Amino acid sequence: MSVLGVALLGLALLSRTAVAFVPVGPGTSSHVNMTATALLQQVSEACQAVADAAGYGFQPTGSSPEELVQACLGPTAIGMVSGAKFHSALQEIYTQNGLIDRDFIDSDPHHFNSEAFLEGRSLILEGMAAIKANVRNENFQAARETLGRVLHTLQDFYSHSNWVELGNSEPYINLIRPDLPLDNLADVNTPTCRDCEKGPCTNSILPEILEKKKLTSGYMGVFFSAKPQGKCSHGGPGDLTSTTVPRGGINKDERRLDNVAVHNTAVSLATIASVQLIEDIRFAVGDKNFLRMMGIARSSVVCFVIDTTGSMSDDIAEARSVVNKLIDSKKGTQDEPSEYILVPFNDPDFGPATRTSDPDKMKDVIAKLQPRGGGDIPEMCLSGLQLALTTAPSSSYIYVFTDAIAKDIELKDTIIALIRRTKSTVSFFMTGSSRRRRRSPTTATFNDYKDMALASGGQAIEVSKKQLPGATGIISDTATSALVTVLQRAGNPGAQETFTFVLDESLQNITIYITASGIIFTLINPAGVSQSNTEANGKLGIIQTVGNLRRIRLNAAHQSGPWKISMKSDQPYTVKVTGQSIITFIYNFVEMFEGPHPGYAVLSGRPKAGQPATLLLSVVGKKGPSSMTVGDISLVTVSGPEVVSNSSLTDMGSGDILVTVDAVPDGEFLVILRGKDKVSNSYFQRQSTTSMSVSKVTLQSVVASSVRPGDAFEIPFSVRTQGSGGLYSIVAKNDKDFPMSYPSSLSLTTGKYTNDTLTITPPASTPSGTDVTLTMEAKSSDGVDSNYVVLRLSVVKKITDFVQPICKVVSVLADDCPQDVSQCGPFQWELAANLTDGNGTGIESISLQQGNGTLSFTSLEAAVIQANYNASCCSQIVEFTAVDKVGNVGKCYHSIVRSGSPPALTLSLPLWLCLLMILY
Ligand SMILES: *[C@@H]1O[C@H](CO)[C@@H](O)[C@H](O)[C@H]1NC(C)=O
Ligand SMILES: *[C@@H]1O[C@H](CO)[C@@H](O)[C@H](O)[C@H]1NC(C)=O
Ligand SMILES: *[C@@H]1O[C@H](CO)[C@@H](O)[C@H](O)[C@H]1NC(C)=O
Ligand SMILES: *[C@@H]1O[C@H](CO)[C@@H](O)[C@H](O)[C@H]1NC(C)=O
Ligand SMILES: *[C@@H]1O[C@H](CO)[C@@H](O)[C@H](O)[C@H]1NC(C)=O
Ligand SMILES: *[C@@H]1O[C@H](CO)[C@@H](O)[C@H](O)[C@H]1NC(C)=O
Ligand SMILES: *[C@@H]1O[C@H](CO)[C@@H](O)[C@H](O)[C@H]1NC(C)=O
Repeated sequence: MSVLGVALLGLALLSRTAVAFVPVGPGTSSHVNMTATALLQQVSEACQAVADAAGYGFQPTGSSPEELVQACLGPTAIGMVSGAKFHSALQEIYTQNGLIDRDFIDSDPHHFNSEAFLEGRSLILEGMAAIKANVRNENFQAARETLGRVLHTLQDFYSHSNWVELGNSEPYINLIRPDLPLDNLADVNTPTCRDCEKGPCTNSILPEILEKKKLTSGYMGVFFSAKPQGKCSHGGPGDLTSTTVPRGGINKDERRLDNVAVHNTAVSLATIASVQLIEDIRFAVGDKNFLRMMGIARSSVVCFVIDTTGSMSDDIAEARSVVNKLIDSKKGTQDEPSEYILVPFNDPDFGPATRTSDPDKMKDVIAKLQPRGGGDIPEMCLSGLQLALTTAPSSSYIYVFTDAIAKDIELKDTIIALIRRTKSTVSFFMTGSSRRRRRSPTTATFNDYKDMALASGGQAIEVSKKQLPGATGIISDTATSALVTVLQRAGNPGAQETFTFVLDESLQNITIYITASGIIFTLINPAGVSQSNTEANGKLGIIQTVGNLRRIRLNAAHQSGPWKISMKSDQPYTVKVTGQSIITFIYNFVEMFEGPHPGYAVLSGRPKAGQPATLLLSVVGKKGPSSMTVGDISLVTVSGPEVVSNSSLTDMGSGDILVTVDAVPDGEFLVILRGKDKVSNSYFQRQSTTSMSVSKVTLQSVVASSVRPGDAFEIPFSVRTQGSGGLYSIVAKNDKDFPMSYPSSLSLTTGKYTNDTLTITPPASTPSGTDVTLTMEAKSSDGVDSNYVVLRLSVVKKITDFVQPICKVVSVLADDCPQDVSQCGPFQWELAANLTDGNGTGIESISLQQGNGTLSFTSLEAAVIQANYNASCCSQIVEFTAVDKVGNVGKCYHSIVRSGSPPALTLSLPLWLCLLMILY
């Protein structure tokens, strides 16, 4: 459907792109609104089920994502809960949904245009298989991205086909069921529409099509006006076929005076269809994994990258002790990590990455790490780090333990690209001597680690092996679910610099980190009370010094308001102020795309130089966006003389803000946001941690589909520069080391696209559901201009099992249940069913979805599985699902509700359905 591509287009856009954009009033018909409605409904159901199973109530205090997360994670958990990851997950899905209108604008199957029904359905089915396979492999981001895309296609069906005009009041379930055929499709020779001379007209579908219930859809021509004889058009100014007879168009994208009824039905069916698709995925992967995919889990993740060469035994012992302490001390709190990731590296090997949610497994794996070989020699540090960055969820804190410089320094640009893409923070514990002599300009140094730490907002900590235990406290500081950054800057040697920052009331456990050797500083609170670096235990907090790290824990009773820190050092230094708070923000640099359905796309690389930068930003607070006022949002240089670029803001509704910065600072910059929390009536300040800079080079590439094991897969890309032309080198890396071929350089002409292709071939043995992260970089020969793109590929086997498990109810014994349900108390009923997967891959799991009884079943190995269900007569409905090995979902449903008598367990209509009924 048309409409707010990425949801968030405000009126600003409408004036620029009059095509296909109708102010849709409250905006219920946007893809994003439908997707959001369906997702929130399914998230609530999953939360309810998880809460029921754990024995606590699921009672959100409001409808904001923040409040949903808070209620979903349960009242039992101690500590702060941040809604940021859920927000980001939703944004990722919406963004990919909107991108279909940019990347596949001319692809009929992606929009069910031009009667491409079979192809459109294959996109949906393939996508659903990929999502299930990805979730099984815990590749949640890949799963979210595909989910956003398939929902777009599914939703478009109801606007672009004549399903609604055929009088259907239910979604077309066959679109998400591989075992059911699409039939009665109008063939290419069958005329379907009459001519509407004067633009869109109602009832343009031919009566015989309606009578014979033939399915058709409008032809769409972005570049051509030709269409088969007698066929309907999509319609609208973006569709050139709409002026070819029969003229007009049947899309129901926007609500117009003449199409209110069909538009509203299309929206309502598209929303229910979205619920059905998401529910199928939820049943296939289970509630817990579904919630993890949606970013609803405790948000702290522990990720270690450890050098395992011979000299590292002390460091490994320390890492082990930190992990064990963390696991034991955070158990049962919101700060308990939800995932542990460990990547060892040595020379010449690195990996594999261990990723687990089981703390005992993490303890076990790290207990088994043994130092071996080598000495103080360069190691494959960056290869290990690359693996960690692609394995860990976005915005993770990653710690690298090493005592040597990196041998694989050629990966440095790839690492920085991945840091920018994932917004993860990388800190290094370096226990070797940093005074090694540089042998040649291409040899790595410890400074490379400092560069990477700075780019990500992490610390490069240099300590002796003996001092290491004193420095690892920063790891448990970040193992918390609601960590925010208030200030982050890098300083230059020489001049005295003073940084001001605002501490608000919501902040707890405020910690300041300074990395520098030999630094003099003074901290001053709003009342003018000060503490200098020489007072380890002063009026404002406790200063701990180890190696080049100063860690200052402010007293719990800190003063809110503007603080100052003045610093002077003869070495470069970094300063970072962090705390725990529910108030935070998420952001992405975006660019606008035009077309019949314009929108905003998240940039995969750096923003373009010489033009305004645009960000899409959401503020996350305790009670959703309405509880906060945003003051200003600026870009600030990371180091050097402070340059602040002010911006103009456009409120996009539901907490999303479009930020435009006309004068982008030169060099690396960060995002800083100031605002006021209405709940505590206090001013706050937050900063991003990942530095960014603009580039004259653009590198564009899109992955159009999933990849099959063993097949060569082509990825077209285009490069352009606004700087000087000439030879640009192309370097691509993927984290799975799959073979790739591509040109090693391209000759560019200023302002012109140069297009080429990269080919990647995953080995035939690659398991289905594998996620590959591919980073491609284009760099001018003098190394001054460069940009990159980070792509994700899902390797998925071709699905051959289309068979859903089948449930056959064998017997129901409910005679004991009294006629009068209020008397149900002491009575029981039971049901027996046979479950089979025909000639499919076999049933892998069976779970109860609805009903208060107990379900038991015989071995899953048998060809016929016998299930037995026993319940109180008060619980009158049972639904359970059987999922096969590729994720096809079969359902058993039975109700003993007698006609005439109301069910004891009122199946309350979900709120969203009621809403739809009122609106349409
Ligand atoms: C959809 O739009 C309506 C009207 O603007 C709004 O009330 C509702 O909250 C939106 N739904 C979601 C889930 O954003
Ligand atoms: C703050 O830190 C202290 C000491 O490390 C810890 O006991 C407390 O739980 C932390 N507070 C929060 C809100 O995490
Ligand atoms: C940017 O905004 C800040 C705070 O509103 C203001 O003090 C400063 O003068 C502005 N700078 C420019 C260049 O407009
Ligand atoms: C090259 O790629 C650009 C951007 O993707 C596209 O606009 C252009 O048409 C392509 N040029 C050729 C010759 O394919
Ligand atoms: C159910 O399965 C059992 C065991 O395979 C079999 O004996 C029985 O006939 C089946 N019943 C039906 C109705 O298919
Ligand atoms: C599996 O069963 C379906 C229908 O029951 C049939 O069409 C298909 O050919 C069978 N496949 C195999 C491999 O036996
Ligand atoms: C469901 O089971 C719980 C505990 O087993 C019980 O307290 C509750 O009343 C039951 N609800 C219904 C509708 O039977």
